[in-house]
Amino acid sequence: MRAYFSEIGLRIYLGDAIEILKQLPEESVDLIFADPPYNLSNDGFTCHAGKRVSVNKGKWDKSKGVEEDFNFHFEWIGACKKILKPEGSMWISGTYHSIYSCGFALQKQGWHIINDICWFKPNASPNLSCRMFTASHETLIWAKKDKKAKHTFNYELMKTGDWSADFIKKPNKQMRSVWAIGTPENGEKRYGKHPTQKPEDLLKRIILAASKEGDIVLDPFCGSGTTGVIALRYKRRFVGIDFEEKYLSDIAIPRLKDELEVRRCALFKTLAVKDSVDEYGLLP
Ligand SMILES: C[S@@+](CC[C@H](N)C(=O)[O-])C[C@H]1O[C@@H](n2cnc3c(N)ncnc32)[C@H](O)[C@@H]1O
Repeated sequence: MRAYFSEIGLRIYLGDAIEILKQLPEESVDLIFADPPYNLSNDGFTCHAGKRVSVNKGKWDKSKGVEEDFNFHFEWIGACKKILKPEGSMWISGTYHSIYSCGFALQKQGWHIINDICWFKPNASPNLSCRMFTASHETLIWAKKDKKAKHTFNYELMKTGDWSADFIKKPNKQMRSVWAIGTPENGEKRYGKHPTQKPEDLLKRIILAASKEGDIVLDPFCGSGTTGVIALRYKRRFVGIDFEEKYLSDIAIPRLKDELEVRRCALFKTLAVKDSVDEYGLLP
């Protein structure tokens, strides 16, 4: 299978996530972060920068009905299960439109749920209808294939690291399951607009919590490449997939190239150690 873009420690595939996942080697990935379609593009409206704007993200985000949406989530989650190492773990983000469906698929497939995280967005957009609470959080499910597997959790770093940007996290106290992280900062969007770009701080916390240097991190719906940028920044390798060429060519790849340039020296040093276990031929 030909990568759309490859570099040291980096592979980007253009195409349908399920088709590509099926072609990757079994039990080869340490960590998966998946930000799948939330199926919330239902022609409604929200508020952005004080203006009324459509909630529609793209054709890929339209719901096809409860059953078909569930079947899609069931299929990509099943494909991820095959490529994840026995001691690896997977994170899935979503709102109520999709997260219960993903959670049910995980349960049906026998995954073990480690945590669910409430990502609270202090700067979420206001609600226009004034007939309900203002949506200001997303849910992240963290799961592994087998309850007994020894997954990576960098407990001390989560407890004692500098998380001062999060007003909920108290210094030197255990990291709890509610995280306050704002939406992406303007600088993170300088390569172009992706309608559902995740903040770098969210991916930083996930990748630093659940992986080690040199690990392979995979994102089956990589969009603007946020997961890859953070993986490379913290010396992990990255495999990304998306079926919208414009997101990859215009946003993700230029963003990843810049990150690689900055991190190149550090990355070489780490990856050299991993030469013998390089299932993807990610190294030259
Ligand atoms: C919620 S967005 C992910 C955004 C990403 N986390 C970021 O920070 O930019 C979902 C992405 O999945 C892609 N996508 C949706 N369905 C797909 C499929 N079946 N195969 C591959 N990509 C898909 C969309 O093009 C979109 O970029």
